[in-house]
Amino acid sequence: MSALVISSDTAGAYEDAVTGRSLPEMNTVDLGPFPSISGFDSAIELDRTDPLAGFRARYTFSDPDLIYLDGNSLGRLSSVAASIVDRIVRHEWGDRLIRSWNDGWWDLQIDIGNRLAPLIGADPGEVIISDSTSVNLYKLATAALRARPGRPRVVTDDTNFPTDIYVLRGVAEAHGANLDIVSTEGEPDPVAALETALDGGTALVSLSHTAFKSGFTYDLARVTELVHEIGALVIWDLSHSVGVVPIDLGGAGADLAVGCTYKYLNGGPGSPAFLYVRGSLQSSLENPITGWWGHAEPFEFDLDFRPTDGIRKFHSGTMPVISLATIDAGLIDVAEAGIDRLRAKSVSLTEFFVNEWEEHLERLGFELRTPRDPGLRGSHISLSHPDAWTIDRALIEEAKVIPDFRAPDNLRFGLAPLYNSHLDVHTAIQRIKMIVERGVSIGVDVSKVTVT
Ligand SMILES: Cc1ncc(COP(=O)(O)O)c(C=O)c1O
Repeated sequence: MSALVISSDTAGAYEDAVTGRSLPEMNTVDLGPFPSISGFDSAIELDRTDPLAGFRARYTFSDPDLIYLDGNSLGRLSSVAASIVDRIVRHEWGDRLIRSWNDGWWDLQIDIGNRLAPLIGADPGEVIISDSTSVNLYKLATAALRARPGRPRVVTDDTNFPTDIYVLRGVAEAHGANLDIVSTEGEPDPVAALETALDGGTALVSLSHTAFKSGFTYDLARVTELVHEIGALVIWDLSHSVGVVPIDLGGAGADLAVGCTYKYLNGGPGSPAFLYVRGSLQSSLENPITGWWGHAEPFEFDLDFRPTDGIRKFHSGTMPVISLATIDAGLIDVAEAGIDRLRAKSVSLTEFFVNEWEEHLERLGFELRTPRDPGLRGSHISLSHPDAWTIDRALIEEAKVIPDFRAPDNLRFGLAPLYNSHLDVHTAIQRIKMIVERGVSIGVDVSKVTVT
């Protein structure tokens, strides 16, 4: 049995972008205790008393028998997102044409950034939607290294997402610095391992808040404090925590952050990413991709670059309006549900999954790769198995369960509190059990898949 109490400083009134009505305040929620429960009857009971159960009906379930556990990679389509696309394509593009830039498109990335801000403990004017997470990381890491000259080290860890490592290494090399990757393998306390790697030569520490493979989640405030003690800057990648874990960048005094919007925020495939720069840092950091959208007077078409003020200067070029606008749909649901209730349900789902794993899957060779303590994990569970890849394909092709596979041997199950139920978890576990007990062999060519 485990208990967890969370509170969030991100509380605040929020306005529904479509209806304009005020949405409820986010409250502190007592998450524990969690008795060790599993099984069909428990799933039904937990779903019956789930305060967020009604949100499921807002999402598209074209095949009611399909169990989708990949919302940590690509969130489901909500009907509001579909109607936003329809409005933008038919009316704003079709009828209004170029006039729509002045009707709201030009500032949309700022407006949506401001609506995302309370979710990560940021103030208005500290967040924009812009480019991809990789590009935003490049921009912020470069800005950070330029702001800490004479410090030759960038530090990350081996739980970070590969694109982050690639970008950080490239940026470090371009500035004559080294990227040091802290090994967390077998470390009981990754924060302690990280701490020993920090010194006065460190310019930047960049980490994933929630690790994409294991789901391990850092204490953001504690690590930020350690980084500031050595005079370095920190960049948090919030891709796997935003929308499911309370985040308080402002309270922690965090410097910089980036993150995806197509995961638990349900922004849609390829929806642009967000970028956070603490207000007090904005005048001292420069965007290395000096495009016209970051110019003080973009429509003067001056041949000399002059950066604009504030968060807007971290823009570079034209935004993909359609997929930018769909981010609003996700934010509406997340704000209405409230991050603390989402966290409570997320913990309930992951806890239920772990209990079912223990009861049914452990003896079939599945190992839990996610922390047992719900306070140390996000909203996905990773199980390793020697036949993980074949099991993944069999689940998708034959059992109507969609997890994802992360090499070399991880099955990842994203539990999205807005639309996943405890019954989803129970049914998925039963189907995994069935696939493995009958002997994994499927009739499709498992080598012919690009996206795993
Ligand atoms: C933690 C993390 N960071 C970054 C990325 C990459 O984001 P993008 O493709 O938008 O650059 C991903 C993609 O899944 C991710 O999981």
